Amino acid sequence: MEIASHFDINNRITLYTGDCLDFLQEIPDQSAALVVTSPPYNIGKEYEKKTSLATYLAWQENVIKECYRILREDGSICWEVGNYVNNGEILPLDIMLFPIFNRLGLHLRNRIIWHFGHGLHCANRFSGRYETILWFTKTDDYIFNLDSVRIPQKYPNKKYYKGEKKGEFSSNPLGKNPSDVWEIPNVKSNHVEKTIHPCQFPVELVERLVLALTNENDLVVDPFSGVGSTAIAALMHHRKAAGSEIVEEYVAIAKQRIQDAENGKLRIRPMERPVYDPQESKAYVPPKTINLHQKMASESRRSPIRNPFSGASRATRASRCPCGSRAGAGHPSVGSGRGGYARHEGRALSP
Ligand SMILES: C[S@@+](CC[C@H](N)C(=O)[O-])C[C@H]1O[C@@H](n2cnc3c(N)ncnc32)[C@H](O)[C@@H]1O
Repeated sequence: MEIASHFDINNRITLYTGDCLDFLQEIPDQSAALVVTSPPYNIGKEYEKKTSLATYLAWQENVIKECYRILREDGSICWEVGNYVNNGEILPLDIMLFPIFNRLGLHLRNRIIWHFGHGLHCANRFSGRYETILWFTKTDDYIFNLDSVRIPQKYPNKKYYKGEKKGEFSSNPLGKNPSDVWEIPNVKSNHVEKTIHPCQFPVELVERLVLALTNENDLVVDPFSGVGSTAIAALMHHRKAAGSEIVEEYVAIAKQRIQDAENGKLRIRPMERPVYDPQESKAYVPPKTINLHQKMASESRRSPIRNPFSGASRATRASRCPCGSRAGAGHPSVGSGRGGYARHEGRALSP
């Protein structure tokens, strides 16, 4: 696969080496369905220079404005951040950055808590074990494929025991809404995706956003693309990917990872693997090897799934029922959707 170094709307993948503001200028207005990124936190990591908070926020505002410009009307921006730390005092960056998105008129849909089990042990405050993803949409008419990212129901076989629906499954057989608290291991030294980058996204974190917030062939942009985790998640699911990264070495690793994925050699942690639980150590799901030329196993199983609720259309936009609620778990209007992952099907559908 050709990895272009400058943007063109027909590129399947663009990786630009350099400053994101220069790169974003190459992208036409309203062309991306999703901008998903984790910017530097201004905490003096090896790839950034710590500046005053005001300078950092002004710079972020410039980048966010450009991201807003390239975003389609039905598109989303997901900004993943942790804390800015100064003299042991923490300033949550999502709180500091929210006014910037708000001034642009973006609509906050979720403040997702990404919870992970490992990190530094603090002596003078409780150890930090979460970061947040601010998910904004440009308008009220946005893509939201909930069925693509459902997770297993806790009690999939539970049925109504009285009333008109007695004997029918009481929960959505496609699985449940994954909620706004996501338990996903961060990329530490023993993670199958670990590279030399100090703050990589786990691919599965981006996969959920890509699947829920875009459709096939849509463009996904990451202005701080690091070692290409967003691009990999996008390409795996047949979206176009574009990113910029200022450190050449990270771009080289991103290119190698994409090539490995093309050659069926890139290993990632599968979305369907549960977080390790010593009590349940048999629930191990091995790393998944990506081959960009093959449809993912989960996608070839997209055939209609038996759904006791109703019809069959795939949800591409956030559908709102006349009753005011969104189509979703347990709602009578929910369609059979795309079926999602083995974990959804396997556990959710067993009678
Ligand atoms: C938190 S990391 C993102 C890591 C990425 N999510 C991944 O999975 O590899 C932020 C990245 O932004 C890059 N960066 C910093 N300033 C930049 C700039 N002005 N333009 C483009 N990239 C920049 C850093 O080198 C770093 O790799």
